[in-house]
Amino acid sequence: MSDWDERYRRGEHAGVEPSRLLVRAVEMLARESVDEKLAARRALDLACGAGRHAIYLAAQGFNVTAVDASRVGVEMVERRARERGLRLDARVADLERGEFEFEPCVYDIVCDFYYLQRDLFHDVRASVRRGGLFVAAIHMVDAHPEVKPMNPEFLLEPGELRALFDDWEILHATVSQRRSLRKNSMCGLRLKSKALTCARSRFA
Ligand SMILES: C[S@@+](CC[C@H](N)C(=O)[O-])C[C@H]1O[C@@H](n2cnc3c(N)ncnc32)[C@H](O)[C@@H]1O
Repeated sequence: MSDWDERYRRGEHAGVEPSRLLVRAVEMLARESVDEKLAARRALDLACGAGRHAIYLAAQGFNVTAVDASRVGVEMVERRARERGLRLDARVADLERGEFEFEPCVYDIVCDFYYLQRDLFHDVRASVRRGGLFVAAIHMVDAHPEVKPMNPEFLLEPGELRALFDDWEILHATVSQRRSLRKNSMCGLRLKSKALTCARSRFA
């Protein structure tokens, strides 16, 4: 069983609260869609985990595809959707192994929260329809002495996320540093830097 399967089984990382950045992005799309129902719209949640964003998007009427390598996580998404009477397409797929096939130009929103796989961005960009959104929060390198060193392969460099979408309309790009108390940490205190981005694919 994978680390993530074990974490989800232990009830960790299983919060239901969606990111405010995503909520704001959906509210913006809703304001723009006077004639068009959100139900006709498609969303993709990459590395969806226990599904807080996939469930939120489905509850807002999106036709949602949610992908994660953790079977336990995906089962949680499916159970939560059933309990709320929502339908979505949740799939177990290892993105690093190319087990998910991106369709070109179909999604109104692609969201990526706390998952970095650099070679995925080409497909991510291509999968967003014209005028659609990419919404993400991803951890960054952080040289603060209290931060536990992590593999830089899974951490963004400063400005990296924004640069990946520099030919899109950048609606939001910030860096946040948040102190958090971690239950299992010896020192208790941990700083986490993250880049938050919301970018809109330009209309042709
Ligand atoms: C920090 S969690 C983020 C979960 C979710 N996006 C959220 O914000 O609640 C990272 C997720 O990435 C998934 N993951 C890690 N490697 C993956 C891979 N190669 N393919 C698909 N998902 C992967 C893990 O299973 C885990 O659910």
